[in-house]
Amino acid sequence: MTITSGEQRVAKRRARTEKPTEPKPESPGNDWSFWPTYDSASLGFRNYWYPLMWAEQIGDKPVPVTLLGEKIMLIRDGDDIRALHDRCPHRGVPLSLGRRQYEGTISCPYHGWTYKLDSGKMCAALTDGPSSPINNKISVRTYPVEQRLGLVWVYVGDGEAPPVERDIPAELIENDFAVGGRWDIRQGNWRFAAENGFDEGHAKYLHNTALWRLFKVMPAWNETRIVEEDSWLIRVQDAVHWEADFPGLGKWTNKRWYKRMPLPDAPGKAEDINPVIKSLDIPGFVSIRLPGLLRVAYPHFIHYEWYVPVDEDNVRYVQLMVRFEKGLKAAAFKAKYLGAIRWLFHGQFTAQDAWMVDVMDAPPEKLYRPDLSLTAWRRHIEKVAPVAQQDPTVRVIK
Ligand code: FES
Ligand SMILES: [Fe+2]
Repeated sequence: MTITSGEQRVAKRRARTEKPTEPKPESPGNDWSFWPTYDSASLGFRNYWYPLMWAEQIGDKPVPVTLLGEKIMLIRDGDDIRALHDRCPHRGVPLSLGRRQYEGTISCPYHGWTYKLDSGKMCAALTDGPSSPINNKISVRTYPVEQRLGLVWVYVGDGEAPPVERDIPAELIENDFAVGGRWDIRQGNWRFAAENGFDEGHAKYLHNTALWRLFKVMPAWNETRIVEEDSWLIRVQDAVHWEADFPGLGKWTNKRWYKRMPLPDAPGKAEDINPVIKSLDIPGFVSIRLPGLLRVAYPHFIHYEWYVPVDEDNVRYVQLMVRFEKGLKAAAFKAKYLGAIRWLFHGQFTAQDAWMVDVMDAPPEKLYRPDLSLTAWRRHIEKVAPVAQQDPTVRVIK
């Protein structure tokens, strides 16, 4: 029998969860054993709400998704959206291939076991008659679902779900805004995507070819520290260097005659700033928080990106660009989003990130000074100690 790469991955994960706990190293090495919670979280963290796609994309036809390695089926049920484990307990056929035989239910395509969408209860085994002894005896797991910001949110966790608002930035709940966004599934582990988002060093090199930055100077290097505020880690720039001389090599700078100098080093320091963004009083442009949400605040808009774990090798990348305006200004922003931002920023610019997330292979790694953003993120996770998702196929079999 040949072993598939999927089976190898499962074996690797099991080995990792089952190995005897080794003492934690005194200091970070070139692997991730200094951050054991993070190291074990290749499938993400349980007990959080995750955005998946636009709510309007869910209709009467089931939509299969994978979240933290769990197979889930989404389907519309009137105004509600339901989420069920996408596996018929009878013989393991995906329920997302099934039919809506009766209102409020989904029937497995194989033998017609029929499940209530709201409870997951198997209410009728259609091919065994109304007196089938297993009717109402079997259930599939359901997941809490909410619709916010035009997105579908699903909670993967244990016990009672907290309100979805806990996992949405407060400024998106308390204010009016115009929003443009896109989501896609990209290759690479979610941790690489999150680290790339908060990574201090790469923008100045990787993105200096991005069209989005064509007319804005990028710094040569920065002096940075990380501060924690209201569950966000924020990258604060203590000094920005626009050029540097490397002996024997020459000058390193992104300054060009046709590029204008960018914004000050924190959104609040701009002369002209949106009042909502000003009230946030964020000491740096870039912040990150659990379970994997990046916020890049500019004086007039904020970009959010969620790194939602699909499985060990894929990440769902949900990007929103928000402008806290109403009326004409909101409409103008929408047009600008569709005409430019969507393609230049949410397209080509973040595609450069996706390229790196796909090709990188770490650990082992050798970190350098700007990587303090990465180590702060990992340290934060060890401190908060969220519950790492273990192999869901193992959990289901138990
Ligand atoms: S596999 Fe679903 S009803 Fe048989
Ligand atoms: Fe980037």
